[in-house]
Amino acid sequence: MSPPPPTCTTFLLVTIFLLAMILPPSNAQLNSTFYATTCPNVSSIVSNVVQQAFLSDPRIGASLIRLHFHDCFVNGCDASVLLDNSSSILSEKLAATNVNSIRGFDVVDNIKTAVESSCPGIVSCADILTLAAGSSVSQSGGPSWSALLGRRDSLTANQAGANSLPSPFEGLTSITAKFTAVGLNTNDLVALSGAHTFGRAQCQLFSNRLYNFSGTGSPDPNIKLDILDYSAANMSAKWEWNCFGQP
Ligand code: HEM
Ligand SMILES: *[C@@H]1O[C@H](CO)[C@@H](O)[C@H](O)[C@H]1NC(C)=O
Ligand SMILES: *[C@@H]1O[C@H](CO)[C@@H](O)[C@H](O)[C@H]1NC(C)=O
Ligand SMILES: *[C@@H]1O[C@H](CO)[C@@H](O)[C@H](O)[C@H]1NC(C)=O
Ligand SMILES: *[C@@H]1O[C@H](CO)[C@@H](O)[C@H](O)[C@H]1NC(C)=O
Ligand SMILES: *[C@@H]1O[C@H](CO)[C@@H](O)[C@H](O)[C@H]1NC(C)=O
Repeated sequence: MSPPPPTCTTFLLVTIFLLAMILPPSNAQLNSTFYATTCPNVSSIVSNVVQQAFLSDPRIGASLIRLHFHDCFVNGCDASVLLDNSSSILSEKLAATNVNSIRGFDVVDNIKTAVESSCPGIVSCADILTLAAGSSVSQSGGPSWSALLGRRDSLTANQAGANSLPSPFEGLTSITAKFTAVGLNTNDLVALSGAHTFGRAQCQLFSNRLYNFSGTGSPDPNIKLDILDYSAANMSAKWEWNCFGQP
């Protein structure tokens, strides 16, 4: 009796096996010269668009850095934060941590357009977010560095992952655990939290600590609030979360 003819699946498996023999192992590492031959000017193209954006929006650097953080913290730096909601994508943009909060997408689109016009189909959106964040730091007076590049873009989002980004109502133990889970230690946590030296936060996300922290009738003693004179405030009960009509 002769053996059964090979099926399509058998053929595919043999092909994949042979390809695996021919192609080098995929242990690609990021490096700072990833686009040296394919898009040598990518860093300056990104910086120029960020520089333009700063002219009309002084907050844009902070917003771009936060976009990179919210991208990287959920399934790695894969630009998944940029994917819009659709029948196949539950967008991270709609997560409670992100909705009405993350911003800068129009500038990312402008960067992408500029990069595509010089080097079509070469630079990943994940690398664009990385370069935009780095450029935002240096253009805001911080240090500059050659970012490691070569990230690949995700085709899927992780909205549940985005919903468990660190929250302002979460304690240090929990936040530390979230950083540990992605390979970041407490030094990294403290250093990266320094990003909050600029940008904006909505009042509703911290007002519970300003007027009547845990029912004490006073601000959270862990916050140094010497620029505000609380003795002058009219601390009626409804001020516990008072944001004076602002979000
Ligand atoms: C450690 C845990 C963190 C918590 C709990 C946290 C929380 C927040 C919150 C609540 C806001 C205000 C959002 C709003 O008002 O809509 C904010 C803004 C911001 N965060 Fe974080 N964050 C954390 C870590 C980080 C990290 C690691 C970075 C970047 C390295 C970062 C960069 C920023 C920036 C730049 C802003 C201002 C954004 C803007 O003005 O558009 N944050 N963060
Ligand atoms: C950078 O990484 C890419 C992709 O892995 C590789 O082709 C290139 O040779 C690397 N460059 C250096 C200088 O290691
Ligand atoms: C890269 O930028 C330099 C100067 O900024 C310019 O002279 C050169 O033409 C650019 N190269 C490409 C490929 O765009
Ligand atoms: C996101 O997409 C899903 C699947 O199509 C849909 O059920 C959901 O209503 C969408 N969310 C929003 C806010 O549009
Ligand atoms: C404090 O605010 C309450 C309610 O707005 C008001 O009735 C009261 O007169 C105020 N007290 C002082 C001392 O201003
Ligand atoms: C602070 O909160 C506590 C508990 O919710 C409440 O009993 C108290 O009246 C509040 N005090 C002020 C000054 O708002």
